[in-house]
Amino acid sequence: MPHSLEPVLRRTMLFSNLDDVELAAIANLCRQRSVPKGSILFYEDDPGTSCYILTDGSVKIVVNSQDGREHILGLLRPGDLFGEMSLLDGEPRSAAAVAVEESKVLTIQRDEFMSQLKADPTLTLKLLVVLTRRLRQTDRHVESLAFLSAPGRVARLLLDLGGELGKPSATGLTFETTMTRQEMANLTGTSRETFTRVLMEYQDRGLVDIDRNQFTLRNETKLRELTV
Ligand code: CMP
Repeated sequence: MPHSLEPVLRRTMLFSNLDDVELAAIANLCRQRSVPKGSILFYEDDPGTSCYILTDGSVKIVVNSQDGREHILGLLRPGDLFGEMSLLDGEPRSAAAVAVEESKVLTIQRDEFMSQLKADPTLTLKLLVVLTRRLRQTDRHVESLAFLSAPGRVARLLLDLGGELGKPSATGLTFETTMTRQEMANLTGTSRETFTRVLMEYQDRGLVDIDRNQFTLRNETKLRELTV
């Protein structure tokens, strides 16, 4: 198998416990593709012909409203699988996938992916875990939109991103994001103006430090209190 694919396939939750022979079989099905920043891997409503594994960079999963507003459903990181839903149920793509930065993906054709699933019940169970995690995240997001005020939702987003991407630093938990303020605002279901105002307020209160796209959560306890 192409040597460089092995580590990244191992990092993909779906394939993490395959042995070398099984991994080689999967690697043989994969095609590697480089995607420039901003390019669209597929559009919402396209037919699903293959699934994808992100190996480098970042991809956003988005839906667009009729008046052109974009809503991010998910921001994917290396190791994440996407584009599997339309392969499973035969429906068109539920959302579009866009490279947020220069990225690399592996693609697996529909028939080959489905044959692997049919042949390997462990793989199918792992896919269920991936889908279940996503449903949990979506439920959490819906709950946050339904029950939290705008400041609470901003605090929840900061904590979620800190939990996912954050590294401990001298002053707190620091993370960087490729998302614009507008994209972050969309995720919290607020306008960019409200989102920015809440961020400034949190900065003034010493809860968070902001330096362009770098955020440091200085007081996670207090932020968490704002999400209940
Ligand atoms: P598919 O419907 O084929 O194409 C769009 C893909 O986006 C979908 O498969 C999933 O892989 C992915 N996707 C859909 N909803 C979400 C979500 N809420 N979070 C992350 N990824 C998603």
